Amino acid sequence: MGVKVALVVFFMFFVLCSPFPVKRPQHAPCKHLVLFFHDIIYNGSNAANATSAIVAAPEGANLTKLASQFHFGNIVVFDDPVTLDNNLHSNQVGRAQGSYIYDTKNTFTAWLGFTFVLNSTDHRGTITLAGADPTLKKTRDVSVIGGTGDFFMHRGIATIMTDAFEGQVYFRLRVDVKFYECW
Ligand SMILES: *[C@@H]1O[C@H](CO)[C@@H](O)[C@H](O)[C@H]1NC(C)=O
Ligand SMILES: *[C@@H]1O[C@H](CO)[C@@H](O)[C@H](O)[C@H]1NC(C)=O
Ligand SMILES: *[C@@H]1O[C@H](CO)[C@@H](O)[C@H](O)[C@H]1NC(C)=O
Ligand SMILES: *[C@@H]1O[C@H](CO)[C@@H](O)[C@H](O)[C@H]1NC(C)=O
Repeated sequence: MGVKVALVVFFMFFVLCSPFPVKRPQHAPCKHLVLFFHDIIYNGSNAANATSAIVAAPEGANLTKLASQFHFGNIVVFDDPVTLDNNLHSNQVGRAQGSYIYDTKNTFTAWLGFTFVLNSTDHRGTITLAGADPTLKKTRDVSVIGGTGDFFMHRGIATIMTDAFEGQVYFRLRVDVKFYECW
């Protein structure tokens, strides 16, 4: 008996010290949806079409132009159309409303905080995202911190990709919303 216990302890020691730790269980999303949103930045002459505006900028910077030095200090507020594919002119299923803050001096990184306000035949409710968005990375994971309506108390991860980028005026994000907590 004592030998068995000693063997188990011996074995456990190697399992716990193993350089290949036991893999954490792979979670599967309980709900998944892909959304695109389109951001047209106000540049001084596109007021009719713009969906976002620089509302704060470092001292001396121009509110219609992103600051130099990686746009550090700019705060942009947006109310962007949301579509199910990458076409700006497709049927809107809702809006993406919130802001991003350029918060790094030596690279392009923003802090993103916004809500998808969905109102289509398939989805009615809100999904709120918040987190760091290192915009130069191909994909970025941002927390899905809550929801309402069809997404009551949902939480998960949203994988964000820059799907298109046109100068300083337009960009489009593809957002893969994966919920791991559904009610
Ligand atoms: C603003 O953007 C529009 C649309 O892309 C462009 O036609 C216009 O020339 C831009 N204006 C300035 C001041 O950059
Ligand atoms: C606004 O959008 C329309 C339709 O896409 C386009 O024809 C027009 O040139 C745009 N205007 C500006 C100022 O960007
Ligand atoms: C800000 O930028 C716009 C567009 O480039 C320009 O028309 C305007 O004169 C600039 N304003 C200042 C104060 O530099
Ligand atoms: C959502 O859509 C319904 C049906 O089309 C409409 O009656 C309602 O006003 C919309 N709500 C919002 C907040 O847009």
